[in-house]
Amino acid sequence: MTWYMDELLFCIFVALILITMKNMKWIPILAIVAVTAVSCGPKKETQKEEAKKDAPKMLVLYYSQTSNTKAVATEIATRLGADIEEIVPVNPYDGDFQATIERCMQEREQAVVTEIQPLTVDVTQYDVLFIGYPVWFGTYAPPVITFLNQVDLSGKKIVPFCTFGSGGLESSMKDLAEAQPQAEILSGYGVRAARLEAMPKEIDQFLKSEGFLEGEYINLEEFSEQHPVSEEENTVFNAAVDGYPMLHAQAKTVASRAIPEGIEYLFIAEDLPRENNPKMPPAGEMKVYVTVIEGQSPVFTRVVR
Ligand SMILES: Cc1cc2nc3c(=O)[nH]c(=O)nc-3n(C[C@H](O)[C@H](O)[C@H](O)COP(=O)(O)O)c2cc1C
Repeated sequence: MTWYMDELLFCIFVALILITMKNMKWIPILAIVAVTAVSCGPKKETQKEEAKKDAPKMLVLYYSQTSNTKAVATEIATRLGADIEEIVPVNPYDGDFQATIERCMQEREQAVVTEIQPLTVDVTQYDVLFIGYPVWFGTYAPPVITFLNQVDLSGKKIVPFCTFGSGGLESSMKDLAEAQPQAEILSGYGVRAARLEAMPKEIDQFLKSEGFLEGEYINLEEFSEQHPVSEEENTVFNAAVDGYPMLHAQAKTVASRAIPEGIEYLFIAEDLPRENNPKMPPAGEMKVYVTVIEGQSPVFTRVVR
C-alpha cells in the first residue's frame, strides 16, 4: 500500500474518533497527534525505502576450503546485510594440507584450469563485490583464478579479503588488479588463520574505516622511524615467529606505534638459509608486523614479502 493510502485511512480513522467523542476537550490533542503522525510516519518510511534503493548493491563472494575465509565472508555479509555466494569447484579440494599442496603443484605444472560450478547470482547486478579467498602460493586460490578469468568486472568496486598462514593480501591484490584492470580495487582485509578470533572486531573497524558501516573507528598513528633492533626488540621478534616453521628470518630494523591494546611493531627482516631444505633459497627482505598485547605473548599478524 502506498504512503498516501496509509495517510487517507489514518485521517478517516481520526475523523471517526472525533465524531464519536463526547468530551470535546481532547479534540486539540487528537488533532496534533494526527497531524504529527501523518507528516512524520509514512513519509519517513518512504525516505528509508528511497535510501535503500539508492544504496550500492553489495555481494560477498568467496571460496573457502577449510572454512576460515567462509567465517570472514559470513561476518562481512551479516554486518552489511549483503548477499553472499560461495564459489564451488566442480572437483572440490577436499584433501588434507599436504594432499592439496601436491594436487595444486601438479595442476600448475600441467596448466589445469580448475572448473567451478555456475554461480546462482548475476554478479553484473552488483556495484560492490567483496571477493574472499585463502592465499595459496602467494595469491588467490585456483577457484578464484577461474572466476576472475570468466567475468568482466569493469567499473565495479572490488574489496578483496583473505585468510592466510603468514600473509599474501598485498601480492594477491597486485594479481587481482592485473586480472581485472578496469575494476576499482579498494583497500583489502587479511587475517592469519591462527588469529581468526580477532577477526570480528577487526572486520567491524575495517568496514567502518572504509565507509561501509556507520560508527566510530580507531585511526592508528603512523609508525615511528625504522631503527636497528635492540636486544629486547629482537626477543619480541623471535617470540612472535617462534613455532611458525615457514618463517625463518633475522630481524634487522624495527619501527613501532601504540595501538589500543598495546604496541605494534613493524620489523624489516632478512630470510635465512634453511639447512634442512637447501632447495629453498632465502627469499630476501620482508616486513613482519607483530603485536604485543599487555599480558600476552607477541604474535605476528602478517608478513609482506
Ligand atoms: C595449497 C595451499 C597453499 C597455501 N599457500 C599459502 C601461502 O602461500 N601463504 C600463506 O600464508 N598461507 C598459505 N596457505 C594457508 C592458507 O592460506 C590458510 O590455511 C587459509 O586460512 C585457508 O583458508 P580456508 O579455510 O578458507 O580454506 C596455503 C594452504 C594451502 C592448502
